[in-house]
Amino acid sequence: MSFDVTLPARGTTVRAVAGSAAPEGAVLLVPVAQGEDGVELPVTQLAPKGLLEALVAVGAKGTANEVTRVVVDGTLVIAYGLGDANDIDDEAVRRAVGAVTRTLNGVEKAAISAEFGVQPVVEGLLLGGYVYNGLKSTANTLDDDNTDAELPQTTEVTVVGADEKAFEQAVIVAESVNLARDLVNTPSNFLYPESYAAVMGEVASAAGLDIEVLDDKALEDQGFGGILSVGRGSARTPRLVHLTWAPSGATKKVALVGKGITFDTGGISLKPGSGMEDMISDMGGSAAQLGVIAAAARLELPVRIDAWLPLAENMPSGTATRPGDVITHYGGITSEVINTDAEGRLVLADAIARACEDNPDYLIETATLTGAQLVALGNRTSGVMGSDDLRDLIAETGRAVGEQAWAMPLLEEQEDELKSPIADIRNTHNARTGGMLFAGLYLSRFVPENVEWAHIDIAGPAWNGGGAWGYTPKRATGAPVRTILEALNRLAAK
Ligand code: BES
Ligand code: MN
Ligand code: ZN
Repeated sequence: MSFDVTLPARGTTVRAVAGSAAPEGAVLLVPVAQGEDGVELPVTQLAPKGLLEALVAVGAKGTANEVTRVVVDGTLVIAYGLGDANDIDDEAVRRAVGAVTRTLNGVEKAAISAEFGVQPVVEGLLLGGYVYNGLKSTANTLDDDNTDAELPQTTEVTVVGADEKAFEQAVIVAESVNLARDLVNTPSNFLYPESYAAVMGEVASAAGLDIEVLDDKALEDQGFGGILSVGRGSARTPRLVHLTWAPSGATKKVALVGKGITFDTGGISLKPGSGMEDMISDMGGSAAQLGVIAAAARLELPVRIDAWLPLAENMPSGTATRPGDVITHYGGITSEVINTDAEGRLVLADAIARACEDNPDYLIETATLTGAQLVALGNRTSGVMGSDDLRDLIAETGRAVGEQAWAMPLLEEQEDELKSPIADIRNTHNARTGGMLFAGLYLSRFVPENVEWAHIDIAGPAWNGGGAWGYTPKRATGAPVRTILEALNRLAAK
């Protein structure tokens, strides 16, 4: 089962199946590594006799992400380079498999060995093979003029020697990452709070989750002033979606919160025009959390999970929130809105306050929150803030699954900068320094002492503005779905 959801376009990827041998006529995908004396074959399964000689003859080295095609005894072999033979880990496998998968256009059937681990191989295939052409009307042709369109992936890849259970689990994880990518890649004229909540309803029924959608009227009645204030400038009214996975016998309760700004113009504090189109990705945190809770249900993780996903479109208009306005969040804390472009923290504050009302043991929240995250850590490394232990667990987990993450502090000296003369706190500070950390500090005000909390700023990592690399496609990446899923596994085992 993959997710059947109503979107104008979906990404495509290769089809992976588990098997005990390479099917007749399959192209063989074989790993190679860089040894002391040149190219090496680190595993022998699927490697035909004479392969090594053929690779040496064409000058293959086994370097990371190198892809070499040779024909051995009439069979096409595509060798994929893992790099240093002494330094092969899951991430090297995922990236190399991703790189080779992106060269499979036109190949009908292929086979790959599961010897390096089912999960990294399946993730490399399904994540690396992902192609999103959106609404390109010529996407299905090989037309030379249509240079930007990539062919949809149609290859069937047999993962040879894969344990069935491990295979299914890896597919579930990859499908959730690709679902998050589809949502983030969807333009905001199709994906807005109401339509996004409807898609969440489709995912909830497919995965077996409970769902409750609060519309603007319900938000008004219950006092969600942060979400309402951000949504006020848009003709498309905001929502708060609550998804629940409640397995019997669960002893731990985890709350998930994710930013769902379906488009961020900045509002009255309007953003500059250049690059603003990328702000279709400002709902990446909520898409990741949707993917996480759907996978958790399909994997039957033994923890109770409540996801609270605030959805709003941040637009400037005659009804929009102004700088200087004071708003009352869910639970009563008031904020002075200094900058309407610091909107993510306003909607998250409400969702965090609501999530914590149910006394979760852990709160994991993620958001494309600050440009300052990119300044501090670059495009690919998330900034993680929060309670010491959970923060460190998330940062380590991120690095373990290949979604780079780094622990960042909450600064005591910024406490004063949170003060407002007319409200409990204000949403931005005057300094040009530590913007990611200030946002984290702002959010910390909504988390009670007894809740272990982590905030993951994915402003850079959610979106790849450059070319595809490893198993990361252009545009939406699906980060940090795999980090949070693995963190849930670790928390469940505690
Ligand atoms: N959605 C943006 C953050 C962002 C920037 C995400 C670049 C992805 C790429 C967020 O709502 C925002 O606008 N933040 C402001 C905060 C500022 C006004 C304090 C920012 O970072 O400039
Ligand atoms: Mn903004
Ligand atoms: Zn934003």
